[in-house]
Amino acid sequence: MAQLINFAHRGASGYCPENTNAAFVRALELGATGIETDVQLSSDGKVVIIHDESLLRTAGLNKLVKDTPYEEIAGLDAGGWHSPSFAGERVPLLESLLELAKAGGTILNIELKNGIIPYEGLEQKVIDMVRERGLAGQVILSSFNHYSLALCKQLAPDIRTGVLYMEGLYRPWDYAKSLRADALHAYHRAVNPEWVAEASTSGIAYHPFTVNEPAELERLIDAGVAGIITDYPDRLAQLLIRKEAHPE
Ligand code: G3P
Ligand code: MG
Repeated sequence: MAQLINFAHRGASGYCPENTNAAFVRALELGATGIETDVQLSSDGKVVIIHDESLLRTAGLNKLVKDTPYEEIAGLDAGGWHSPSFAGERVPLLESLLELAKAGGTILNIELKNGIIPYEGLEQKVIDMVRERGLAGQVILSSFNHYSLALCKQLAPDIRTGVLYMEGLYRPWDYAKSLRADALHAYHRAVNPEWVAEASTSGIAYHPFTVNEPAELERLIDAGVAGIITDYPDRLAQLLIRKEAHPE
C-alpha cells in the first residue's frame, strides 16, 4: 500500500506563520511529505500564497489581495503577527513553493481560493506554472468551488483534483467521479472507515483536513485514508513511524 501523504497545512502552521517560506521549510524538516497551501491573485495577476482574501490578518494591510499589486504585497511583513522571531517573512509567490517542491519531490496540494472571489484565469495560470516545471504528477488542485475543479480537469486531465467540503454529502465518491476528481478533501469528522473503503473501490482517495489531535490522527490512519492535512506534520510522522514499527 502507498505511503500515507503527510500534508502540512499552510506549511508547519502549528509552529510558524502560515503560508510563509519558513513554514514550508520547517514542514519538510518535521517530516511532511506533502504541503497544502492557498492561492489568490494580486491586482497585477500574480499567483500569491495567502489564505484570506484580505491582507489584514497575516500581513497587516487592510486591503484585498485582488486590489493590491504584488510589488506592494512583497513589502509587507507576513511573520511578525505570529512572533517577533519571524518578522520579515514575506507573502510568497507560488513560483517559490513550486521550486521547493520540485527540489524535494514534495507533493503539493494547491488550494484555489476562488470560492468568494472568482479570480478569472486562476486555474490556467496555476496549471501553466505547474506544467512549466514538469510538476503535473506532484500536484493536487483543490477548491471549495467545484465549478473551478471541473474547469481544472477540462484544462489539465493529468493533474489530480481534490473536492473540498465540510459534511453531509451523500456518497461523495459518486459526486467526485461526476467531477472526474481524484480525491475527497473532507472535513475530518465527515470521514469513517466504511466510506473510505467504498471510495477506494471507486478509485477515490480521502485526504481529510485539518487534523491535529493524536487520537484523531490515529483514527484516520486506521480508517485507511490516503493522506492527512495537519498543522503538526511531526505528530503525524511520529505516529506513522510508531505504527510501522508496531502494526496492530
Ligand atoms: O485544504 C484544506 C483546508 O486548508 C481547507 O480550509 O480554510 O484552511 O483553507 P482552509
Ligand atoms: Mg487551505
